Amino acid sequence: MKLLVLGSSAGGGFPQWNCNCANCSAVRSGSTRHRARTQSSVAVGGPADWLLVNASPDILAQIQHSPQLQPARGLRDSGIAGVLLVDAQIDHSTGLFMLRERGTPLPLWCTDPVAQDLSSGNPILNLLGHYCGVARHALPLDGTLIRPAVDLQTPDSDLRHLAIRALTLDSQPPPYSPRRGKPVAGDNIGLVFENTLTGRRIFYAPGLGEISPAVWEAMSTADVVMVDGTFWTDDEMIRMGLSTKTARDIGHLAQSGPEGMLSWLARLPKATRKLLIHINNTNPVLDSASPERAALDAAGVELAFDGLEIDL
Ligand code: MLT
Ligand code: MN
Ligand code: ZN
Repeated sequence: MKLLVLGSSAGGGFPQWNCNCANCSAVRSGSTRHRARTQSSVAVGGPADWLLVNASPDILAQIQHSPQLQPARGLRDSGIAGVLLVDAQIDHSTGLFMLRERGTPLPLWCTDPVAQDLSSGNPILNLLGHYCGVARHALPLDGTLIRPAVDLQTPDSDLRHLAIRALTLDSQPPPYSPRRGKPVAGDNIGLVFENTLTGRRIFYAPGLGEISPAVWEAMSTADVVMVDGTFWTDDEMIRMGLSTKTARDIGHLAQSGPEGMLSWLARLPKATRKLLIHINNTNPVLDSASPERAALDAAGVELAFDGLEIDL
């Protein structure tokens, strides 16, 4: 089984369409120290059937760049067997619109608060009802394992061996949500993907505001952790004059600082593979010659990139 990184950037992508910061300018002008990235999404499974985890606005380009996702078993076909969402953010849900040409309702796993936001403030699920429709599955937060293959009927697929556990995260619902600033359990989740044949586990949380004891337990018992790489410093956007909000205000834990993401990753076992994902275009680690990237290298922390495959 594989986890395939489809998009490793935060909302806006890299370069961001309206941004001329040092990173965006450099990647736009072809710098060899920078690598373009599409917006936040991964797929789990293989070889032909995949669970899409987050549906980014860049989904069509991501599918084009990932031949694994088009097994071509019929005149109309897709390797995307279903979708699971970690939140209702624009960068994780807009791609659902692009899957509307399906012939059958799209199997979709999301929590109740996410389904609520996607049926009210941003009513994608209602609109899809006029196209393929969605077949929604509950996403329990009580530790119950999700076995997507049971519903997807994928007899020869690696998905048969995929078990998923969802964890509530301290983060933020989207800016358009009536719960912005007052998050509830289920607005944001982290996921443990487990291969039930091998026991191998990946912890995935592209938006993570705080390391709770349950999150730490999941991180400590995973073979691979792939976590929030949005910002290097908590006040990155303020310092650059791009926002008045800190990383923490919008639900992201920055990498640097005494209780920053890197300090947590440093406490994991040496054998744990550690990666950052959902990297914002302002983050200095995007420049491979920056001191911040050198600090990542020294800490044994990798930057996920579009097209990266990880064995599960
Ligand atoms: C986030 O990850 O905080 C959001 O995707 C931000 C956004 O919607 O631009
Ligand atoms: Mn995001
Ligand atoms: Zn930029």
